[in-house]
Amino acid sequence: MKKLFKNFVAAGVCMALALSYGCKDVQPLSEPADLIPAPVEMTVTPGSISSEGLASLPVKEKISEKALLRYLEGQELTDWQIKSAYWMEITPKCVKIVAADEQGAYYARQSVKMMATINDTVACCTVLDWPRFQHRGFMLDESRHYQGKEFVYKQLEMMALLKLNCFHFHLVDNPGWRLQIDAYPRLTQFTAWRPVEYFWDWEVNETGGDFVDEGTPGAYGGYYTKQDIAEILAFAAERHIEVIPEIEMPGHNYETRAAYPELACSLKDGGTDKWELCPGKEGTYEFLENVLLEVFDLFPNPYIHIGGDEAGKDNWAVCPDCQARMKTEGFTEVEQLQSYMIKRIESFAHEHGKRIIGWDEILEGGLAPDATVMSWRGTEGGMKAIAQGHDVIFTPTQYCYFDYKQDEAQYKPVGKFLPLEKVYSFEPMLEGISKEDEHHVLGLQGNLWTEHVLEDWHAEMQIYPRLFAISEVGWTMAENKDWPSFERRASVLSDVAREWGYVVYRPGLTNADGLVK
Ligand code: ACM
Ligand code: ZN
Repeated sequence: MKKLFKNFVAAGVCMALALSYGCKDVQPLSEPADLIPAPVEMTVTPGSISSEGLASLPVKEKISEKALLRYLEGQELTDWQIKSAYWMEITPKCVKIVAADEQGAYYARQSVKMMATINDTVACCTVLDWPRFQHRGFMLDESRHYQGKEFVYKQLEMMALLKLNCFHFHLVDNPGWRLQIDAYPRLTQFTAWRPVEYFWDWEVNETGGDFVDEGTPGAYGGYYTKQDIAEILAFAAERHIEVIPEIEMPGHNYETRAAYPELACSLKDGGTDKWELCPGKEGTYEFLENVLLEVFDLFPNPYIHIGGDEAGKDNWAVCPDCQARMKTEGFTEVEQLQSYMIKRIESFAHEHGKRIIGWDEILEGGLAPDATVMSWRGTEGGMKAIAQGHDVIFTPTQYCYFDYKQDEAQYKPVGKFLPLEKVYSFEPMLEGISKEDEHHVLGLQGNLWTEHVLEDWHAEMQIYPRLFAISEVGWTMAENKDWPSFERRASVLSDVAREWGYVVYRPGLTNADGLVK
């Protein structure tokens, strides 16, 4: 706060200087203090430049760790922080950027871009900056509502501006499989398509609906081809965003079971389970490994998200294949079957140079040795995982679930209320985490589940401006967080985003266009 205060004083001095230089139009003026996420250190220096002029200034970039370290004297940064750190200066004649890595230089350019777009004039300034957390993420559920490539590009563009660096692509789930897998064509020729558009019409009474063949008139759905994924990955990489694909197991597999019924548990009445993959059958592992091989080939990220959440385990107690597996493995609880599956898949991932992330249910029955836990049912799972020496990404529903409504009047998204200020108030470095364990907190993520999303505009309305808060919680040092300042900056950035064609929630934007049921 002291630093910010110093800079407000500096801003005042700058204004006085600008006026004495005879500049008529010094306001509105962008300063680094307008940035989201707020930077570590900033100084406003004399002078200003028009945003248009700034766009055509020469940019002098130096990528050199040694050069950057001169600005970082006295600071303790980890290797990954140094990669993202930058120093920059805007003068009336040029923009100077010093970074240890192209990623840091990219973030510097994003800061310049944000300042140039929120006002017509930009204050001359210096900024020294680096992120607080390594994982600053956003998750998009493509299964319940299929958004498609253009939508993904648009959100990646905003993520880049916000210095978010992990896009968690929730590609498969009960109401639709959205990724081309050559070995299992029915996943996309059949279970990527359903006869009705809206999830709630499809999942009548939460029983799950039908799928139809690709090409059926009126079918709703779609999927990403391998070419689409390659294009998305290239687009994301240019913006220093990593893409983490999620392949759910053993729960959330209604669609897989619809395409390949032989992967489900057998029930006493002769039928098969509708929701889970059978963890007892060897064929399930053959399927998962074949799918993962194609996913590993496609996505260069060292992490793969394997889901693990909300598996119904009741049928495992009666399924002969599950029972046989429990007997041979000496298991006494069905939870051990889930843990068996996750551990086995983790070994397979390791054989291929990959590490797994799973929702916090993967703690049940024993955590796989090297798994990262995504803590969503509050923060307890994350805390337990840290106590066991594991890395954690926090995404607790109470702070990070963008399907929750933003005001009380909003139509039915999951009934809970999650206003911007509550997202902003989240502190991932929770009380009780020791200094030695702090490195296990990789960061946080905002999640958009799309059960209630009807159209793309509606998805954006759920995302923004709450993603701005995830950005600042993930990047900005705790002592520089300040709600009144953020609220002002978020309002300015919301207007800019609207001008760019994003739908950003504001009070009153609720039952828009009568689309909402
Ligand atoms: C989840 O929300 N089921 C991870
Ligand atoms: Zn089974």
